[in-house]
Amino acid sequence: MRHYQISELVKEVLFTKEEIQLRIAELAKEIEADYKGKDVVFLSVLKGSIMIMTDLTRCISTPYIELEFVQLETYHGGLASTGEVEVVTELKSDITGKELIIVEDILDSGITLEKLCEILAKKNPKSIEILAFLRKPMNVKVDIVPKYIGFDVDDKFLVGYGLDVDQKFRNLEDVVVFNPDALKQYE
Ligand code: IMP
Ligand code: MG
Repeated sequence: MRHYQISELVKEVLFTKEEIQLRIAELAKEIEADYKGKDVVFLSVLKGSIMIMTDLTRCISTPYIELEFVQLETYHGGLASTGEVEVVTELKSDITGKELIIVEDILDSGITLEKLCEILAKKNPKSIEILAFLRKPMNVKVDIVPKYIGFDVDDKFLVGYGLDVDQKFRNLEDVVVFNPDALKQYE
C-alpha cells in the first residue's frame, strides 16, 4: 500500500469525523419523526454513499427498515463529470407501495439523481425522498430538492467519507478539499 502525507492530499479539512457524526444524528432524528410508524427503505447510491448509509442507518432506532443498493456511475475517473449516467447495478427488490429514501453522497449537477428518480418512479413506490449528505447548490441543474441535506458546500472538489478521486481516498474519515497536485504522484 502506498504511503502518503495527509498534508499533500488536503487543502483544507471541511468537516471532521466528529462534525459529520453530529449532523448525521440530527438527520436521523428528523427522519424518525417524519416516518413514524411507516416502513422505510433506505436506498444507497453506490459507491460514494457507503459511509453515510452505514452511519445514518445505525442511528435509526428501529430495526424495521430495509437497506437497498444501486450502483450508478457518472464520473469515469478524474475530476470532471462526463454527464453520462450508467446503471451498473440495478434495484431488483420490489419497492411497490414503500416509502423510499435515496441516500446519496453529493448532489452536484443533479443529473445522477434525476436519472435515478426516473427509473425508481416506474417501480411504484409510495414516496421517494432524497437525502444528500452534501450539496453544491450553485451547480444543481435539475429540479431536485432533497428533503434532507447534511451540508451545503462550495464548488470545490472534495474527497473522503465515501467521496473519491479515481476510486481512491474514500476511506478518509473527514471530508476534505482535495489538492489536485497530489494526483501527480499517482501518475
Ligand atoms: P451529479 O450527477 O453531477 O449530481 O454528480 C453526482 C456524483 O458525482 C456524486 O454522486 C459523486 O459520485 C460525484 N461527485 C460530484 N462532486 C464530487 C466531489 O466534489 N468529489 C467527489 N465526487 C463528486
Ligand atoms: Mg455518488
